[in-house]
Amino acid sequence: MAEGGLKIDPWSSNQSTDYSRIIEQFGLSSMDMVKMSNPSKLHRRGIVFAHRDLDVVLDAKNSGEKFGVLTGLMPSGKMHLGHSMVIEQVKWFQSQGGDVTIAVADLESQATRGVSLQKGREIALNEYISNYAALGLDPEKTNVYFQSTRPIVQRLGFQLGKRTNLNEFESIYGFSGDTNLAHLQAPMVQVGDILHPQTEEYGGLRPIVVPVGVDQDPHLRLTRGLAAKTNWFNINDGRKSGVVIGLSIQEDNAEILGQQPNGRMDKQRLNSIFDGIVSCLNDIGYSDIISNPKNGTVNIPGATSGDKIRIRMKLLEYERQLGGMGLLAPSSTYHHFAVGLTGDKMSSSKPKTTIFLGDGVDSVTKKIKRAYSGGQSTVEEHRRLGGNPDVDVAYQYMMYFFEDDDDFLQSVNADYRSGKILAGEMKQLCIDRAVEWFEEMNEKRSSSEHLVKEFLSQDSI
Ligand code: TRP
Repeated sequence: MAEGGLKIDPWSSNQSTDYSRIIEQFGLSSMDMVKMSNPSKLHRRGIVFAHRDLDVVLDAKNSGEKFGVLTGLMPSGKMHLGHSMVIEQVKWFQSQGGDVTIAVADLESQATRGVSLQKGREIALNEYISNYAALGLDPEKTNVYFQSTRPIVQRLGFQLGKRTNLNEFESIYGFSGDTNLAHLQAPMVQVGDILHPQTEEYGGLRPIVVPVGVDQDPHLRLTRGLAAKTNWFNINDGRKSGVVIGLSIQEDNAEILGQQPNGRMDKQRLNSIFDGIVSCLNDIGYSDIISNPKNGTVNIPGATSGDKIRIRMKLLEYERQLGGMGLLAPSSTYHHFAVGLTGDKMSSSKPKTTIFLGDGVDSVTKKIKRAYSGGQSTVEEHRRLGGNPDVDVAYQYMMYFFEDDDDFLQSVNADYRSGKILAGEMKQLCIDRAVEWFEEMNEKRSSSEHLVKEFLSQDSI
């Protein structure tokens, strides 16, 4: 957390919205340069604003290879509009062919919110999964599980714990001596959540994208770092050009990679490992491969930086054949937080700031009527100076949730700024759409109620 001062605490409702600083400080990539076909409205409108390695997933999709999507929900409190953004993104990835896994973070909720496993289960099913069904996730292609009943998740978390320490947790999360140990374990369980879909049992090696709010980025930084630390092969840009592969000899692979207990290398073993590397690269089709076991490197002069991911996938497969975990660092995307009804942050612990997905249309209408407005205090002033859609909750909610038509939204935006549309009229536009949206949600929730159990994986029944 320390560098540059900005801190992201995944368990606080008080998040920074200084997105450009977040991008810079934590090394996220901006979405500006990303090319997507059929982007969703959250992508088109810049609401999904940053990512890590999204290109890896989009490349897989574009070349018809498998990819997965994983996200998680913390079962505490009610599901509100803000939570639906992740599901919008999951749906989008699902429509692009991704398989979907959803973690119910019941262990985390117990550790950090004091919600019992039983209660967590009820909340997950009645509040979240039923809304996911209504929002249109496909139960056939979605797998929901509970942290508490999927041993591999906890095992992976435990095993990878070997590669981190309290100092790292202090710097990422700000944990200190009085941090409860269950809370300390929660991030490791989340590491297990994020990485386990890559295991053979859960779909095998493939890129996995994790769409989340930016508050969850600390977990992704941790997970990506841990995955990279387990890799047996390093892949780097060559000094001048090309790509260079080296070995990462560690306690649990030394023998397999040919290092003897006395530290000397077993030549035969080493040569066979290097032959294996070369044959991976031959599969990709490089003509010029310079293998130098003595030096511990393989050079591919003709490869570019952009080839590294293909090389990595091949070498991760090879690592798995040799007995390693072969873990690929997860990709991620981040969305802006929707503003709360009061103009401040949206938070389920402050009901006045948000609309819950279970709210009735009367209550939704009332809430929008009372919402913070970007209009001027009198009609005369508004006509003269215009309103500000950037802080107007009604406009923002149309943009984030209720209005699909970009052109319409743009004209409303312009007409608000020019003073042509009044604040009350803006609210009415929002209410009309919100009412329709919620009526549809309510209908779908009842008609898809029977689907809730179809979302559940075998180990969560
Ligand atoms: N920590 C997340 C939250 O507070 C829930 C979660 C658990 C999660 N495991 C995950 C999110 C894996 C993304 C990926 O909401």
